[in-house]
Amino acid sequence: MNSGDPAIPTPAMPKPAMQDQATAQTFAIPDNVYAETVTFVRHYTDHLFRFRITRPASLRFRSGEFVMIGLPNAVRPVFRAYSIASPAWDDELEFFSIKVPGGPLTEHLQRIKVGDTILMKKKPTGTLVLDALVPGERVYMLSTGTGVAPFASLVRDPETYDKFEQVILTHTCRQAAELAYGQEIVEAAAQDPLVSDFTAGRLKSWTSVTREPWPRTKRVTRAIEDGTLFAELGLPPFDPATDRVMICGSKDMIADCKALCLAAGLTEGSNARPAEFVVERAFVD
Ligand code: A2P
Repeated sequence: MNSGDPAIPTPAMPKPAMQDQATAQTFAIPDNVYAETVTFVRHYTDHLFRFRITRPASLRFRSGEFVMIGLPNAVRPVFRAYSIASPAWDDELEFFSIKVPGGPLTEHLQRIKVGDTILMKKKPTGTLVLDALVPGERVYMLSTGTGVAPFASLVRDPETYDKFEQVILTHTCRQAAELAYGQEIVEAAAQDPLVSDFTAGRLKSWTSVTREPWPRTKRVTRAIEDGTLFAELGLPPFDPATDRVMICGSKDMIADCKALCLAAGLTEGSNARPAEFVVERAFVD
């Protein structure tokens, strides 16, 4: 998810102290928060960018999980949920973010530069994890917009391929330019020798664009309903015996994809009770 839980103000704690990048105030970093350094920023469109930060040596996470991210620009920083887009083996952490004009976090986050400090709460969590799915033959990862972020992690994780023979990533955006990050990840998965050994012939990508002309202009939900998703991939329709589904997008997208999974006879899973599909909401402000 790239998402917005309600703002969680963090109480100031005694130490260590740090300078507010925007206002030069000095305040304390709470014990449950890491202060990490930005190592890379790339802007894709007026609305989307990705960034990488140093990874704390003590951080352990499962691919697909999210963390709470904030900036040291207030005594009580605003934190928002961000899926970790890098795989668990990467020595840095990557995030993919929307830019919301006037958004409490992204208005400031979109201006970060290499060397700036990012705050990150120490506990990763989430349901878009392999542990929440029972084994199967293939896993579909259905995403819209920045909902592709957790799957950017999962498609580069060897464990995904240990568990599933085939991995299908779908990404739908309003404009074609918004597909770029997901396409980069899929291309990297095909070319990077670290990853291509297990993705070769097993990772398939399906993309669509809904608000400008493009070779495929259909919501994924419509493509599931009318069968074109399966026809284009050369696969049979969802089957609870073989297929698992992970869903990440807007509230409405999740509700509609979930209804299609339920209609196909799939059961929703969780960390406590793994089953055949899992969902997580992606939005941030
Ligand atoms: P559309 O352009 O037809 O609304 P958003 O930025 O609103 O989250 O949309 C991102 C992408 O997700 C768009 O391509 C949008 O299509 C699509 N989308 C929005 N709502 C749904 C839904 N309920 N089911 C499937 N796709 C959706």
